[in-house]
Amino acid sequence: MLIFKKTNETIEFRRQQMNISIGFVPTMGALHEGHLNLVKISLKENDFTYVSIFVNPLQFNDKKDLEKYPKNTDRDIKLLESIGTNALFLPSFEEVYNSSVQYDEINLDDWNSILEGQKRQGHFEGVIKAVSILFKIIMPHRAYFGLKDYQQVKIIEQLVIDKGYPIEIVSCSTVREQDGLAMSSRNAVLSPDAKKSAPKIYQWLLKAKKMYHSGRSVEEIKATIIREINDEKHFQLDYFEIRDAHDLSEIKSREQKTVALIAVFLDGIRLIDNIELT
Ligand code: PAF
Repeated sequence: MLIFKKTNETIEFRRQQMNISIGFVPTMGALHEGHLNLVKISLKENDFTYVSIFVNPLQFNDKKDLEKYPKNTDRDIKLLESIGTNALFLPSFEEVYNSSVQYDEINLDDWNSILEGQKRQGHFEGVIKAVSILFKIIMPHRAYFGLKDYQQVKIIEQLVIDKGYPIEIVSCSTVREQDGLAMSSRNAVLSPDAKKSAPKIYQWLLKAKKMYHSGRSVEEIKATIIREINDEKHFQLDYFEIRDAHDLSEIKSREQKTVALIAVFLDGIRLIDNIELT
């Protein structure tokens, strides 16, 4: 696997790659099966796959969260090599933000008034800055994102449309532990006790789906699930919502494609997940 640390070297190498399809999986490291699944899909669908590892400080609205964010680059490199990744871009902060490549911005007003955008002010601005720079450096034909970060996928789709990048955004299903817990780099910092409770998150989503299909109203489902979360002493609710699957607006009719989204703190660690209801 090639490893690039410098933006200019990466751009130079990439410019020489002509007439081949390029896949790209941007990550913040602490890789797990969810990331590796994205890389494997990209390897199948493209001639050459880049992965980036960059813990982007601009998207952490909470400094403590950034400090706690797990890092294990040596292990990440071995994992990427073991599945045949072609190249890793492993830049420093300066290589991303003080290079010749400028970030793009999009209007995030609507996204910032709901769910992750509302709870984590500045988060999506940070994501867009890093992703737009990475896209300009790697210039992929396809970029792969996990649907666990549902709102992030929608915002990156908007970035590509608004800025006219010739990139296909491929959204991939959430990979789960056997007990249902969505794979996340943050799982690595859960205490053993918290790990035992964590599968409840997916169980609440499954229950919401079952209730939805048995004809219960959105209000009734929300009230039931929120009550159950509040009854669990290790969990603190951030939000539980049922929304339109395309733009995450409030549901107006049962004809809409619908998604349930949850964010909780489990012993102080923030975890998110979602499930498509229809
Ligand atoms: O999902 C992530 O890991 C990050 O938000 C991303 C897309 C790599 C941007 O920093």
